[in-house]
Amino acid sequence: MPGNYTSMNIPYAEIDWQAWRDEFPGLQKSTYLNTVSLGQLSRRSRSAVNRFLDLWTERGASAWYSCWLAEVDGLRREFARLIGAGLDEVAIMPNVSSALAAVGSALDFSTRSGVVSCELDFPTLTYHFLAKAPLGVETRILASPDRIQVPLEAFEGALDERTALIATSRVYFTSGYIQDVEALAEMAHKHGALCLVDDYQGTGQVPIDVRRSGVDFLVTGGLKWLIGGPGVAYLYVRRELAARLAPSVSGWFAHRRQFDFDPYTLEYRDDAQRFEAGTPAVAAVYAAKAGLEIINEIGPHALRQRTASLNQDLVGRLREQGYRLRIPEDPDRHSSITILETEDPLRVVHLLADRRIIVDKRPGAVRVSPYFYNTFEENGVIVDALGEILR
Ligand SMILES: Cc1ncc(COP(=O)(O)O)c(C=O)c1O
Repeated sequence: MPGNYTSMNIPYAEIDWQAWRDEFPGLQKSTYLNTVSLGQLSRRSRSAVNRFLDLWTERGASAWYSCWLAEVDGLRREFARLIGAGLDEVAIMPNVSSALAAVGSALDFSTRSGVVSCELDFPTLTYHFLAKAPLGVETRILASPDRIQVPLEAFEGALDERTALIATSRVYFTSGYIQDVEALAEMAHKHGALCLVDDYQGTGQVPIDVRRSGVDFLVTGGLKWLIGGPGVAYLYVRRELAARLAPSVSGWFAHRRQFDFDPYTLEYRDDAQRFEAGTPAVAAVYAAKAGLEIINEIGPHALRQRTASLNQDLVGRLREQGYRLRIPEDPDRHSSITILETEDPLRVVHLLADRRIIVDKRPGAVRVSPYFYNTFEENGVIVDALGEILR
């Protein structure tokens, strides 16, 4: 029954992973090892969306004031709790690209025009800053020597007094490498720059304490490791910055007196909600909040422990078979995204799908991504199937 699981605060060894697995009916239909693309739908998210639909039918517009806006705040609270932020430091956004647009619109690139990213970052991040080239923004995209990581020294070497921002991922989407964002934030600050982290592939599967990390902005989304489906993304803005940055991409949700409908003056809210613009997708908010509740109930450290042990088991089995893996050597730096290099990844993905094993591909590679709801037996299933397909 949804809502009956209480792994929060109970010792790791006592967590009933099978009970959690039962919360995701899709796992009965396939061997699903593709959370890197899309997390599974929980029973809890499905019933939350049904609740939203019932409220829409029964209350019409009054649902906004009686329930829906509170649900958005509840979502903010769950996310803030997960990353160790204050409620006033979180904005709810429709997707990461919009969150980047809001942040980018608030930064002054006139005296510092440089942005440092790398080639392993998800391209929506670099595209955002490349699109600002006509405004004088210079985006430096660092090369990776091994397609797994970019050395911290390369970031250090790219920073100077003209750098406005380091903008990079905590977890790379095509190698699973976990970057040391604390070191990057410190490095950026030492040079008078800011640090923005794209954490789409990190939040949920690898714990983060944003305050300790020292990052200035963190963007992430709900549909992968936060098992919340599409339509919701999150923006963390460090409190001191949130109070003084003025996004020029804006809307009525950024106004401190939103319901005064004053068309003449835009008075920003004091908090990170000044980065919000318009009406949120409420059905998506319901789904996302139910997903986040599960993530918080299990807790980020238990999630990491469980997911890392599944992933290390997978890596061990793949290595035994001699496959070429593009992953970090150090398990502490490896998240649950395992890249298997292969000639024709599309064919492999299709042949696996014929056996109801779901993974995805990126150029030259297949990505396999176990999450807490997977099992060690499923690792065996995919490795056996790969053996039949690839040999
Ligand atoms: C690291 C990373 N950033 C961003 C995105 C997507 O951004 P958006 O929400 O704008 O579609 C993804 C999606 O795959 C991603 O893996």
